[in-house]
Amino acid sequence: AQGKGIVIAIDGPSGSGKSSTARGVAKARDLRYLDTGAMYRALTWWMLDNKIDVNDAAAVAANVGRPVIVMGSDPSAPSVTVDGRDVAAEIRGREVTTNVSAVSAVPEARELLVRTQREVIEAARDESAGIVVEGRDITTVVAPEAPVKLFLTASAEARAQRRSKEVRTVDVAATQADLARRDKLDSSREHSPLTQTADATELDTTGLTLDEVIALVVKLADEVREAQ
Ligand code: DC
Repeated sequence: AQGKGIVIAIDGPSGSGKSSTARGVAKARDLRYLDTGAMYRALTWWMLDNKIDVNDAAAVAANVGRPVIVMGSDPSAPSVTVDGRDVAAEIRGREVTTNVSAVSAVPEARELLVRTQREVIEAARDESAGIVVEGRDITTVVAPEAPVKLFLTASAEARAQRRSKEVRTVDVAATQADLARRDKLDSSREHSPLTQTADATELDTTGLTLDEVIALVVKLADEVREAQ
């Protein structure tokens, strides 16, 4: 309303289809897109590159402000740079994936990234562009006031299949074990764990195609916009 853009907040575990869904919805309705997981990954990449022990929370906390992480919010060409360097490929690598839960459990890291995320959201709203934001704490911490809040789920098998395709591995069992390990860490950490709130719409994507999920979310967002 009042010329401000809509905010669509999407949370869910790894492989639930959040990123593809969020991008698809943003493209369909000409909205901006923010992948907050990529920010935690970029910070983790910088920590590893600078030989900081990611399991030493004090060391991570002392260094969180050093890298300059910039996210491009075009859903057709999402980008992430750290100190001007394009790290889009590196942040999907095994080393970052294995260590990102440790970094994202550090409160100082979350505080800083949440602040940046809110700035990105406000900037998009001021341009009346609207934005789709996805992660683990978007519906609960980053944008609890978002008019559209979704919690995406899918069976462990479906999530492992999808993630295996993404990272081009045939070892679905190993991928499933890795997802389970990360889910456990992300859901049981002390600060802003992945949690499903009562006011978020749950969407089980197990038996749905990506296009079907995108269509459902677009319909929901259109309904909310019309009601505003
Ligand atoms: O969605 P992803 O797999 O790229 O996220 C990478 C990690 O970052 C994930 O293990 C949990 C963490 N994360 C988080 O703690 N909070 C967010 N809003 C997004 C991601």
